[in-house]
Amino acid sequence: MSEKRLPFTREQLLEIIREYPTPLHIYDEAAIRANARKLLEAFSWVSEFKEFFAVKATPNPYILKILKEEGFGADCSSLPELLLAERAGIYGEEIMFSSNDTPAGEFIKARELGAIINLDDISHIEYLERHAGIPEVICFRYNPGPLREGGNAIIGNPEESKYGLTRKQLLDAYKIMQNKGVKRFGLHTMVISNELDPDYFIETANMMFDLVVEIYRTLDIKVEFVNFGGGIGIPYRPGEEPVDLFYLSRGIKDAYEKKIAANGLHPLKLAMESGRMITGPYGYLAATVIHKKEIYKNYVGLNACMSNLMRPGIYGAYHHITVMGKEDWPHGYIYDVTGSLCENNDKFAINRKLPMVEIGDILVIHDTGAHGHAMGFNYNGKLRSAELLLKPNGGVEVIRRAETIEDYFATLDFSRL
Ligand SMILES: Cc1ncc(COP(=O)(O)O)c(C=O)c1O
Repeated sequence: MSEKRLPFTREQLLEIIREYPTPLHIYDEAAIRANARKLLEAFSWVSEFKEFFAVKATPNPYILKILKEEGFGADCSSLPELLLAERAGIYGEEIMFSSNDTPAGEFIKARELGAIINLDDISHIEYLERHAGIPEVICFRYNPGPLREGGNAIIGNPEESKYGLTRKQLLDAYKIMQNKGVKRFGLHTMVISNELDPDYFIETANMMFDLVVEIYRTLDIKVEFVNFGGGIGIPYRPGEEPVDLFYLSRGIKDAYEKKIAANGLHPLKLAMESGRMITGPYGYLAATVIHKKEIYKNYVGLNACMSNLMRPGIYGAYHHITVMGKEDWPHGYIYDVTGSLCENNDKFAINRKLPMVEIGDILVIHDTGAHGHAMGFNYNGKLRSAELLLKPNGGVEVIRRAETIEDYFATLDFSRL
């Protein structure tokens, strides 16, 4: 059973806040590194395993650099993400470019960096060729549609989701690329998001390995790598179990032996592009209670809002909350924990049992290390917070300063008013 622990005490956090005011996101470097090593250890049986960290989850070059030091590459889906990877020293086939509805300039930059391009549609072959040329290696994103159940609010049911090629298109696309002289091929899918059941991923691996065999038999193409995408969930709620990476890996290994090795297709490189599972549990949003309000319900108002964390507002997602210094108090009060947007869904928690909260209390919202700060926006003129790195030696480094009003106004020219 996972418990909701923090890598700092109230006193440590108060000291940090004295220098860097709330709201702030803080990431635990030691825990991120340990987790990265665990993933690579779990897949050490694979002849070549690569985790392309999904930059969209935590698009901060200091986080990317830490993960690069651990042996990860980067999964990018836009020009700014490609530029971030480049600035973090990640180039060439250490980058997987998995985008959709892609503008030409992004393909051009991906080609310039030597990234592996993962095409989201058969029509993108001609578009890529016209704008950026055909690369030496190409990957396609498979959408199994009705052949695979699952999906959720984040990614959609495969049949309803906009991503990838159908099975028929996929086979046609490989053939087209083969005729264009491409010799190195990858196969990609991502059909689930935030899934805690490891068997789902094992079934996906089985599906992908079957496809690798079919591509070999029908087109005589020996796929070089399979990328299972991201989507591994994390235990946002206390009591939920994290995905056992060793169980997951064993299940994929069994499928590999039965389908890939048995058909003479070993070695096949395997890859993932997880984001949430890599950094999600190791980031925290700290905010201060600035108001309390009692009307038909009891509200606790923070100095943070959806610009700092959208997930509860847009997905109704659960994020655990700790009231610092009151961890052992009875959780006898029920609150909605709110931000200040003029949007009624700007709530970090609804009907949450907490200890008695007072103005000035520091609340820590857990599991904000992925798709947290990254999803923030500026509606209502709200500014995004700083990002801090909690170093293994207990020190703190600012890895992104907080936005200022000048940043918010930077795109406006007031001189013609
Ligand atoms: C193509 C692609 N790869 C990887 C990811 C990362 O997913 P997760 O953070 O759930 O692992 C996403 C998430 O949106 C994605 O769209």
